[in-house]
Amino acid sequence: MFTPICWREGTLEILDQTELPWKEVWRKLHRWEEVAEAIVSMRVRGAPLIGIAAAYGLVLAVWDLPDGKDLERAFKEALEGLGKTRPTAVNLFHALERMERAFREARERGWFPRERLLREAEAIHREEVDACIRMGRLGAELLPEGAEVVTICNTGALATGGYGTALGVIRAAWERGKLWMVYPLETRPKLQGARLTAWELSREGIPYRLIPDSAAGWLMAKKELDAVLVGADRIAMNGDTANKIGTYTLAVLAHRHGIPFYVVAPTSTIDPSLPDGSGIPIEERDESEVLSPYGMRFAPEGARAWNPAFDVTPAELVTAIITERGVLRPPFKASISSVLSQGKS
Ligand code: MRU
Repeated sequence: MFTPICWREGTLEILDQTELPWKEVWRKLHRWEEVAEAIVSMRVRGAPLIGIAAAYGLVLAVWDLPDGKDLERAFKEALEGLGKTRPTAVNLFHALERMERAFREARERGWFPRERLLREAEAIHREEVDACIRMGRLGAELLPEGAEVVTICNTGALATGGYGTALGVIRAAWERGKLWMVYPLETRPKLQGARLTAWELSREGIPYRLIPDSAAGWLMAKKELDAVLVGADRIAMNGDTANKIGTYTLAVLAHRHGIPFYVVAPTSTIDPSLPDGSGIPIEERDESEVLSPYGMRFAPEGARAWNPAFDVTPAELVTAIITERGVLRPPFKASISSVLSQGKS
């Protein structure tokens, strides 16, 4: 299965997503600081992949160090540094917590933590991909034969380490012969839909028509669509969902047109500390991404921009949340709590 990230003998190799679809450039990362830079600049991106990359970053932080005091300091520094990269995707913080527990466990047992950390990072990677395959199967069952669906951003192998969340459902529906057409939104300003989702769909031969973000409402008015499928960066306990900017607009439009709105996300995207979406930190990125996308200046000199990278869709607009442990329906407070307690048993 295609993965945009792999560990090879003390080096983390990533497919640089800022170069896609023009060039397929694999970069070798040797230090956690390089991993942090790759996350901030979105060479690696997408909630699950950010968590996976950060986990491997912590392996790099201790890889070449001798045992001793420096090890503790280096690990802590990397933990803090990686935690400051992108604020919205909770998978990052879940992955960092897991890696910290693995580090402590190794230290308490008197082991050098290198191998233990590598095993944990590989487990996080494997679990995310397994979750995607299960979500794909569950989600495909919800779609009718000949389905036509809308999606936003990139939620495929590039965003998850393999297969994908919303795009995983699309992939699974295609594999089962149920899919007729995908309409990915371009997803301004970083164009993850136009650059990355279109790249993945083209590679697989899945039929699609890219649409400008602003065409979503008219598409829904003119076509009989079967579902809107989106990923998530953080889901609060009541089902409020943070995802790529524009997702909220899609949800409102889907509601207006009576189209099911499905969030596809692993349970690692649920934040048990947040009762609702009001506490989700929303990343605001540099205004140059709006004013001069990919270096091409569109706005006049002196123009200012606001560039929130995510928005929060209220739970009342979500038809169901497709997780690897089952399809959650409203009331989400109950279904989310129940699925999380399943994981603990
Ligand atoms: O800013 P990005 O490209 O990291 O945003 C990605 C998204 O919003 C995805 O929809 C989300 O992370 C889910 S990916 C499986």
